[in-house]
Amino acid sequence: MYYSDEIVEEVRTRNDIVEVVSGYVRLQKKGGRYWGLCPFHNEKSPSFSVNADMQVYHCFGCGAGGNVYTFVMNYENYTFPEAVQMLAERAGIALPEKDDSQEARSRENRRARLLEVNKAAAKFFYYQLRSPHGEIGYQYLKKRELSDETMHRFGLGFAGKNGAHLVRYLREKGFEDELIQEAGLASNSEKYGLNSQFWNRVMYPIQDINNRVIGFGGRVMGEGEPKYLNSPETPVFDKRRNLYGLNYARRARSGNIILCEGYMDVISMHQAGFTQAVASLGTAFTSEQAALLRRYTQTVLLAYDSDGAGVKAALRAIGILREAGLTGKVINMQPYKDPDEFMKNLGKEAFEERIRQAENSFFFEVRILQGQYSMDDPEEKTKFHREIAKKLCEFSEEVERENYLQAVAEKYFIGIENLRRLVTRYAADAGTAKPLERPKSGIQQKKDPQENARRSQRLLITWLCSEPKLYDRIKKYISPEDFTVELCRKVAERLFLQLKEGCVNPAGMISMFEDGEEQKEAAGLFSAVLPRLESQKEREKAFHEILLSVKKNSYEYHISRMGTDVNALAGAIEGKKALEELSGTHISLD
Ligand code: CTP
Ligand code: MN
Repeated sequence: MYYSDEIVEEVRTRNDIVEVVSGYVRLQKKGGRYWGLCPFHNEKSPSFSVNADMQVYHCFGCGAGGNVYTFVMNYENYTFPEAVQMLAERAGIALPEKDDSQEARSRENRRARLLEVNKAAAKFFYYQLRSPHGEIGYQYLKKRELSDETMHRFGLGFAGKNGAHLVRYLREKGFEDELIQEAGLASNSEKYGLNSQFWNRVMYPIQDINNRVIGFGGRVMGEGEPKYLNSPETPVFDKRRNLYGLNYARRARSGNIILCEGYMDVISMHQAGFTQAVASLGTAFTSEQAALLRRYTQTVLLAYDSDGAGVKAALRAIGILREAGLTGKVINMQPYKDPDEFMKNLGKEAFEERIRQAENSFFFEVRILQGQYSMDDPEEKTKFHREIAKKLCEFSEEVERENYLQAVAEKYFIGIENLRRLVTRYAADAGTAKPLERPKSGIQQKKDPQENARRSQRLLITWLCSEPKLYDRIKKYISPEDFTVELCRKVAERLFLQLKEGCVNPAGMISMFEDGEEQKEAAGLFSAVLPRLESQKEREKAFHEILLSVKKNSYEYHISRMGTDVNALAGAIEGKKALEELSGTHISLD
């Protein structure tokens, strides 16, 4: 199956590589990239990096690399068309008619039918709620202070006491018994035959981000068990990868997302105007959901229940958010149990104030930790301080760690030097000590001149991709011909065109190589480790060194070829001039 370049590119851009890779590899953000254990070779410490800006990955251990396509091709052993199909489906993109296998087609049909039967059931529940059969449900929701408009917006419904009604309705609409069962809407028993799973419950249809009904949650009327009954997982209902309310929250543009525990919490938040509220689906918050949220926000505010279970769930969620590179904060719901109750009692303005006061997740963790130790007992207190030191070690960035160290020392009256010593000790134990010093520009490491040339060309490509604005300042001195390594030149040719047009697209460039080895190498070109330098002056010096090295190599290369090529002389003279000029020129990185 052949797919057009446009479709291939659309599918690629709609699948964030960090998210996709996160589905397979635990990634941690460090210094602007994500790191994890390489899935393509065996290793104990992470050398596999994913760059979100460039949408590429690269392993510094085994050299594996590429874009989101090469990743799933290599990981899943997919052909290219299979990778396109999988990623298109993941992003909810309809591919043009495919002359696919019988099997794939029937799978697709099945999914479509499941969505249809869910939609029909949602309609049935919706009308039941508004009919005499649904009176108890309607009164219940009214008592919970939901307006008709809110009920409509969330498509709320009711499953009556007679479980045969739903089945009859769905059969009449032409749905087969088997499908109704697969959707988890009904089950078969000797006594009742095919009968609704849900009865005497208010029904919350669960929609995906494209507003399709993928499952249901049903709340029992009165005290029955379980309080909430959720649809089972089906081919269209993946509880790890969907969030209740996200179909609305994604458009909220509030600068944050509020994560609640319950459906009712989400609904009352939306009714009060906080349309950025979402909840997980009767299960704990997952890393897949964190990755999903990262498409829409950087900050997630936790509005979990204020009881013990809620605090525990919040602590877990904080870890997951942190691993996904998201900022987590905790909203204090006291003295109420959950957002729903809070809203009813104190209202919108009070909640807005709580949002402003949301607690930094680190301090939340430390505060909860403190509750486990008795501060009157020196031994316990010491243990508490040790735990803080361990927690501080989780910050891999020194500046961040130091800032938190100072803040927490001040807040809990701990001697700052003592705490710092503890942290250093734990950091050394855990092997999070500082990485080895690298030569500053990162280019004088290898003796082999060929290897040096490759290194500096690669560094320059990475640098230009991450700071495209530098192009204007260097275009006078450097052109694609200065890249003497063939693959670097191919990439540079394309890259310089893109820089000129102001639209750099490294991951797209990878697809221009058909050969897997070349794709790998090309990905490596965008993933060089740029020198980590604090001061602007040092960075400028490093950049200048790299430029000079590329230019000098190119000059030498052309000189060495002069015997065979008359044009080379002119090139060499030009090159010499440019090189001299470049040596004496200051190029600012501002
Ligand atoms: N939940 C569940 N099964 C249960 C209890 C809870 O799936 N037996 C899920 C539901 O998604 C629920 C959420 O966990 O919305 C939070 O549970 P809880 O705090 O008990 O419910 P509330 O949302 O407060 O429900 P209500 O206000 O209707 O009592
Ligand atoms: Mn509640």
